[in-house]
Amino acid sequence: MFCKTEEEKVLRDPVHGYIHVDYQVVWDCINSRWFQRLRRIRQLGGAYMVYHTAEHSRFGHSLGVYEIVRRMVTEIPDLKNSLSEKEKVTVMLAGLLHDIGHGPYSHAFESVTKHSHEEYGCRIIREDRELYGILEHASRGLSNDVADVISHQYTKNPLLSQIISGQLDADRMDYLLRDAYFTGTKYGEFDLERILRTIHVADNLLVVKQSGVQAVENYIMARYHMYWQVYYHPVARSFECILNHEFKRLKDLQTDKNFMDDTGIFTALVGEKELSLEEYFRLDEQTCSYAFSLMQNGKDEIAKDLASRLMNRHLFAYLDSTPKNTKEIKKKLKEGNYDPRYYFGTDDVAQRPYVPYKADQNSAIWILMNDGRISELADASVIVESLTRGQIRNDNRIFFPSEIL
Ligand code: NI
Repeated sequence: MFCKTEEEKVLRDPVHGYIHVDYQVVWDCINSRWFQRLRRIRQLGGAYMVYHTAEHSRFGHSLGVYEIVRRMVTEIPDLKNSLSEKEKVTVMLAGLLHDIGHGPYSHAFESVTKHSHEEYGCRIIREDRELYGILEHASRGLSNDVADVISHQYTKNPLLSQIISGQLDADRMDYLLRDAYFTGTKYGEFDLERILRTIHVADNLLVVKQSGVQAVENYIMARYHMYWQVYYHPVARSFECILNHEFKRLKDLQTDKNFMDDTGIFTALVGEKELSLEEYFRLDEQTCSYAFSLMQNGKDEIAKDLASRLMNRHLFAYLDSTPKNTKEIKKKLKEGNYDPRYYFGTDDVAQRPYVPYKADQNSAIWILMNDGRISELADASVIVESLTRGQIRNDNRIFFPSEIL
């Protein structure tokens, strides 16, 4: 038995209307300092440089994922009736805490720390005294179960990981709707209510009834459009390119005795040693932004210039990545005395609307047909079937300062 809060807590949310909390352990996790830290990390990295209202945080997204999971386990009859209370609380907490290890600036930061946010997340859940204490106080072994669901290691019931991360999971459903709302791009919208109504469980798989296929098609298209309109926007990638170059510069300067770190905030990050959790905790977007602001008056010309580009949105220009463009740009960088190690970047992205990998149940969307068979989505939908046959769309770019043109 898990303790309930004295009265149900509700938090207003523009995507879901309300987030409902009635388990004490969920409420305590929300009030923990690691969870509150997510207020200081934007959901979309550099996308706010393109969409000026894309300032929403990982805090809001995490609550949204929790709310979708909560609705799934309380409103979908097959889940409501088959999961135990402990499994329900475990998967709700996994939804709430799935991004707890996220560093600043979305995924751009992971290349600097060399660790994924999932790795940090599991460490925080297992090692942070406060969070670990909250979970273990509610139920012995809960911290391990929650971390296992997040890292796909939970073997006791495969449904729990499917709810959090599959092709049609609470995480993606929340971020698509939330990112569409906060960027103002209508493409990301889809019919969440219809999907929730048509989800069932068959053979230990989350499946969607055939009558929900149109809602799922709509979701696949929403996802595809959001990738090109928002997640892969070249201007956001330009911001992330400069960010990476700035950290590279700081790393290279560590061996330079004449350089004194102007801020001290990044010393641990760019140093040789692994970051401790405490050091990682302090690196949120507010401290980073403060450091960049100070670095604009720093001693190293390159670090200073890159910091001022980040602060003032003086971003790199971009062109298609072709051998001809690359050669020309590198020549111009040389003429302008720009060090290509810090002033030239490449970034290739590719996206296919839907790639069913049938050998891994988590990588496909399964449809429960009217006759009782379970079909993979591409076999049940003409639209999705034709999408899987199409070309993969690539977008390969080079980035460089616009002044050299
Ligand atoms: Ni997420």
